[in-house]
Amino acid sequence: MSGTSNPIFVALDTPSLDQASALAARVAPHVGGLKLGLEFVSANGPEGVRVLVKSGLPVFLDVKLHDIPNTVVGAMKALAPLGAALINVHASGGAAMMCAAADAAASAQPRPKVLAVTVLTSLDAADLTALGISATPLDQVVRLAELAKHSGIDGVVCSPQEIAAVRAACGPDFLIVTPGVRPAGGSLDDQRRVMTPRRALDAGADLLVIGRPITAASDPAEAAKAILRELES
Ligand code: C5P
Repeated sequence: MSGTSNPIFVALDTPSLDQASALAARVAPHVGGLKLGLEFVSANGPEGVRVLVKSGLPVFLDVKLHDIPNTVVGAMKALAPLGAALINVHASGGAAMMCAAADAAASAQPRPKVLAVTVLTSLDAADLTALGISATPLDQVVRLAELAKHSGIDGVVCSPQEIAAVRAACGPDFLIVTPGVRPAGGSLDDQRRVMTPRRALDAGADLLVIGRPITAASDPAEAAKAILRELES
């Protein structure tokens, strides 16, 4: 684990504000942040985000913006003042869109960091071919990460398998956030390309998005604590 900060962002994948708030309160002492995705934001809107931001933990708004630059600027200006520490866009929206998103984030103080999603972990090589992309998923991820960096984006979301290549291509100051993390011996759920938290950090990840291994545990606080212990060992 780098420094003293806790890299675990717990994914609160629920449409229920009460459930998300209760879970956040239970795990707060053992995680470094909260991740709110489209399910939560669509159900609870800006008000729901404000409630979780008030918990005091950094919030990652995983809204994956992807539209023409003008529309993404409007969305980013609406989201940035809510107080999230991190907000993401799709790198495949292109350089102009990413530059515009990075600029628009500065409309809030403190400015949230902007991340770019590279290739969704649900897509494999055959899916990329069907989309007309001949690169392998790994090459496409690195290409999009480099484009994001040159567009003023602070970091990327990528699968554990791509962490090392992105770190090598984009340098030590570029944020790497990875889902698909599973504690040793834990259930895979529907994740396919997984890595243990310890190995993901060793490969160069800064932040780990972990959902069900914590949220579906009979004791979420204990599950988060156990992952933290594994990271510190
Ligand atoms: O429960 P689990 O640990 O699989 O949750 C992972 C979280 O990361 C979910 O919120 C999921 O939507 C998100 N995510 C992912 N793969 C991506 C991007 C986000 O699993 N490529």
